[in-house]
Parts: sequence; structure tokens; C-alpha cells
Amino acid sequence: MGKKVVVTGVPGVGKTTVINGAMERLAAEGIAYEAINYGTFMFDVAQQENLASNRDEMRKLGKDVQKRLQKAAASGIAAKSADANVIIDTHSSVKTPTGFLAGLPEWVLRELMPDIVVLVETDADQILMRRLGDDSRVRDMEGARAIAEHQEFNRAIAAAYAMYTGCTIKIVRNENFLLEKGIEDLVSVLR
Ligand code: AP5
Repeated sequence: MGKKVVVTGVPGVGKTTVINGAMERLAAEGIAYEAINYGTFMFDVAQQENLASNRDEMRKLGKDVQKRLQKAAASGIAAKSADANVIIDTHSSVKTPTGFLAGLPEWVLRELMPDIVVLVETDADQILMRRLGDDSRVRDMEGARAIAEHQEFNRAIAAAYAMYTGCTIKIVRNENFLLEKGIEDLVSVLR
């Protein structure tokens, strides 16, 4: 049975950057992990159904549509990750126009049953600057206070995920100029 590690963090915190660094380091040690991006699974379906033309539009779709896409992705990912070591790159909660949507509600957790949920975090002002500097995405423009609240909410909801699955919750800081430290912290739980 492989290890299932869910890696989460607010948009722009750099979770994909940290995951890519950790995968490289583990590969050099001969430890195989597959990285699966939850949003990509959802976006494939959203695109086929002409619901969204970029991945950032998905969090603005109606709640029931997002939940349907989320459910479809959970079964697809579970089927793909049966026995392998996998990292699932996703969100503890998604900020939608009508409030926070749980990224890992009961029907997703039942499919994935993660061993560890990682929260990648850093100071809200650093996240704000990263969003402003990233032209490749359509990031939500919000202030540092709102970003900090979203990170707080992610910790609270992660506690519920731990209660349901018995998984551990690991906080990895990805601070400016300290990317290597964030990568090493993630590697230490993946090893
Ligand atoms: P997804 O694509 O996962 O959205 P995202 O969080 O915006 O993902 P990214 O990987 O682009 O951001 P990141 O924060 O990891 O940052 P990056 O490494 O690029 O998901 C798309 C959509 O799918 C969601 O919006 C949602 O609608 C849906 N979705 C996904 N999962 C779902 C679920 N479970 N339920 C419902 N919906 C779901 O880095 C950002 C920038 O920071 C880069 O410029 C980078 O160079 C820089 N940076 C990184 N680290 C550092 C550092 N240490 N110092 C300085 N700069 C840094």
C-alpha cells in the first residue's frame, strides 16, 4: 500500500513549487512518488462540458457544479492512486463567491483516505506579492488580511479532516528566500 499525501495551500503560496522541488529530491534518493493535481482532473471535465476556459474560473461556478466536478475528480484520482505513493496537490478550502467550499468533504476523504494532509503556508503579505507577480494565472485580488483569514480557515477545516480519517496534519512554511527549507520539510514527511 502506498503513502497518500494531500498537499494544500491558498492560491499563490507556492505549493506546486514546493511539491516539484520535493519530487526532484526524492527521485534522486530513489523514492518514487506520483504528483496528481486535483484541479487538473476537475478542469478536464469542466473543459469537456464548456463550463470554464481556464482553471481559475472553476471556483466561480455554481456550488453544485463545483461539487459535481470535485466528486468526479475524487473517483478518478482514487482509481489512479490505488497502490502507489502519491502526492495530491489540492486545496483545504476553495474561496467561492458564496463562501468557503470544503476541498476535502466527506465523499472526497472516503475515496482518498490520506495518510497526511500538508498545509503549505507563509505570511499573507508574501502571498499577496506572489499573486501580483504571477501573470500566468487569474488570481483573486484580495488584501493580506483576507488571505490570512483563508489560511486560518484552512487550519480549522484540516482539523476536521484529521478527525474523520485519522491522518496527521503537517504545516510546511514556504517563506521568501527559504524555499529549500520548505522543500526539506515536505521531503521529511514523504520519505
Ligand atoms: P490549482 O491549480 O491547484 O490552484 P492554485 O492554488 O492556484 O495552484 P498553483 O499551483 O498555481 O498555485 P500555488 O499556490 O501552488 O503556487 P505556485 O507554485 O504556482 O487549482 C485550480 C482550481 O481547481 C482551484 O481554484 C479550484 O477551483 C479547483 N480545485 C482544486 N482542488 C479542489 C478541491 N479539492 N475541491 C474543489 N475545487 C478544487 O507558486 C506561485 C508563485 O509563487 C510563483 O510565481 C512562484 O515562483 C512563487 N514562489 C513559490 N515559492 C516561493 C518562495 N519560497 N519564495 C518566493 N516566491 C515563491
